[in-house]
Amino acid sequence: MARISYVNGRFVNHRDAYVHIDDRGYQFADGVYEVMLVQNCVMIDADPHFQRLTHSLAELRIECDVSARSFGLIITELQRRNKVTDYFVYLQITRGVAPRNHQFPTERIKPSIVITLSPFKIDFSKEIIGYQAITGEDIRWKRKDIKSISLLPNILAKQEAIENDAIEIVLIDKESGYITECSASNFFIVDSSNNLRTHPLGHHILGGITRTTLITIARQNDLNVIEEPFKLEDVVEAKEAFITSTTKGLYPITKIDDMVINHGEIGAISRKIRKLYQQYIEEQISNEL
Ligand code: PDD
Repeated sequence: MARISYVNGRFVNHRDAYVHIDDRGYQFADGVYEVMLVQNCVMIDADPHFQRLTHSLAELRIECDVSARSFGLIITELQRRNKVTDYFVYLQITRGVAPRNHQFPTERIKPSIVITLSPFKIDFSKEIIGYQAITGEDIRWKRKDIKSISLLPNILAKQEAIENDAIEIVLIDKESGYITECSASNFFIVDSSNNLRTHPLGHHILGGITRTTLITIARQNDLNVIEEPFKLEDVVEAKEAFITSTTKGLYPITKIDDMVINHGEIGAISRKIRKLYQQYIEEQISNEL
């Protein structure tokens, strides 16, 4: 069966899904994106994802008049045409097509919208494993809250992780010494008093949807979460560490550079939060059905 994607108002065969070479996304990375998880035809945390999309668009002054509801309908139609129930959505919006010129086009142009689905089923029955991470300098720009498609520093950082047999790279802001997040995920530690610690929201990190959900779930279950910056020396003392993202949920980190965390074992709090997140997803699915 041919894979179908959405490009600028049309449902097309994935192999024929193209945007113009003058697209500002292609030339300047002038655009934003979202990655969303759909399980059993239910989009997890749909509202916060669309709210973040609206924030990213507004910050870059990209005018897109497609509502979250309309995006929902397009995604449902893609789901139907692709005959899938469990998948990721990749939704990208760029400023549009115009002759190459750094400033915004003077004429009003339509943003380019691309949506693709990739089959993916979360298997919570699979035993989780502890992953290895490395550390590196956070060389990104100063507006990490915008989910921009301009991802070169993230790509270089992730590649460095992979070349060092690590799943992620824990990024450190050189000026402050604070750990911000990872190349494509947020970063948490559990300190010696069992507090969860993660970098606060703001311009220094992407406000991960999984991050916010897990913080809410943790607090509802009497875990203390401290959203304050911390440094590598705090990680040395940490009992547990984990990363979060839409595509990974929660992945325990048991080694960072040469630092072994919790004797290389997955900690009880990481296991507990992962389990609670599983229940949260299952509840969202059963509430919508
Ligand atoms: N990345 N931080 C960064 C830099 C990210 O790129 C991501 C997600 C996250 C986690 O956000 P969320 O929980 O909303 O997925 C944090 C996506 C998955 C990606 O680029 O593919």
